[in-house]
Amino acid sequence: MKGSSPSLLLGVTGSIAAYKSLDLIRRFREEGMTVRVVATDNARQFLPFLSAEVFSDHKVETDLFSEGEGTGRIRHLALLDSADILLIAPASANFIARLSLGIADDLLSTMALSARIPILLAPAMEEAMYLHPATEEHRTRLAGRGVVEISPEEGALASGRTGQGRMASAERILAAVRQHLPSPAPSNIDSLKGRHVLVSSGPTYEPLDPVRFIGNRSSGLMGMALVRAALERGARVTLVTGPTALTAPREVEVLSVETAQAMKEALERLFPVCDVLVMAAAVSDYRPASALAKKRKKNGKGWSLDLQENPDILKGLAAMRRPGQCLVGFAAESSLDREKLLEKCRAKGVDLLVANDISNPLTGFGSSENEALLITPDGGCHPVSRRSKEALSRVIFERLPFPPFPAGSPSRLG
Ligand SMILES: Cc1cc2nc3c(=O)[nH]c(=O)nc-3n(C[C@H](O)[C@H](O)[C@H](O)COP(=O)(O)O)c2cc1C
Repeated sequence: MKGSSPSLLLGVTGSIAAYKSLDLIRRFREEGMTVRVVATDNARQFLPFLSAEVFSDHKVETDLFSEGEGTGRIRHLALLDSADILLIAPASANFIARLSLGIADDLLSTMALSARIPILLAPAMEEAMYLHPATEEHRTRLAGRGVVEISPEEGALASGRTGQGRMASAERILAAVRQHLPSPAPSNIDSLKGRHVLVSSGPTYEPLDPVRFIGNRSSGLMGMALVRAALERGARVTLVTGPTALTAPREVEVLSVETAQAMKEALERLFPVCDVLVMAAAVSDYRPASALAKKRKKNGKGWSLDLQENPDILKGLAAMRRPGQCLVGFAAESSLDREKLLEKCRAKGVDLLVANDISNPLTGFGSSENEALLITPDGGCHPVSRRSKEALSRVIFERLPFPPFPAGSPSRLG
């Protein structure tokens, strides 16, 4: 924490939901936080500034070029210097796009681009805007950069229509902020220092011909969140990823692959020199028995596919493990049955199985949030409630049943 109490920068943008920001300010202050409001020009149309100033006990900031105290009197940096977290609630479609593109043309966007503190977004807009491919692309890109989305809810919208796009409830926003406030460092924060963590992520594409493939909906967001959490704990990280739209942090060694076979080969090569393997990739269970060398043309006859099962990469790697290595597997299930998951955990030979319920649209594929059951082979079952994929990743590494460095561990030698 930068001061004696947590300090929140609340960004407000031009959404009809801006009136709810007043309630947020009140609730954050009740929790003992300092709140500074930074609004876009268009937010003026929706947010009663005088009320926001009375509730927050500070002037609402809008002007990039006004003078601030400290940091060479650069307003956006001075505000960031004293803040623990930047929450943008409501976040308009326009603001999400600007942040994704790195546009810094007012105080709030310049601040967001300069921020080294956690950024949380609570989108609020009509369903058509929220589900528009442009907005989806921007949200995915931001999630890949570690920006946390507090997903909007279904319900009545300002237009009178019903759909997804209502800003998340104050309770969910408060919970997300609490989760991302700096807490005293856990005792094992350096638990991965000097260790080599190998993460697999994203989907695999199994070619039918040079144009078409069988793939899946994995966005790679969970894998990227794991990468960041491992870096946070001091690990050296290698990422083996199927095709995604995400960019890994610069310090990560990245191997891009397409097919399950290529992922298997890359992981088999890297596994012997890693200390921890986290298999978050959604590897295709099947591949076409043969891929055509040229694009198949339509011939009015339909196309029956002969599919072959892909090898179980995780099980194969578990059989190769050396003492001291730690394996984490993921299971995407349509319902979570603890007994079956325990059987799966033991059959795969992993130290921790992270099971997700993919039938919940608020979590899983493409979402910035997830919930999971963490299963260990001794029968342990730890439920982790819905939270950002970053926060879930931290819990996974906290609970890693990691043995001390074995003598002669390659990471230690290298
Ligand atoms: C009455 C009205 C309500 C609006 N509500 C929303 C909204 O809820 N969410 C949104 O993304 N845009 C909404 N807009 C459009 C934004 O105000 C517009 O895109 C604006 O450029 C956003 O500016 P900003 O992102 O710089 O604050 C609304 C516009 C009007 C006229």
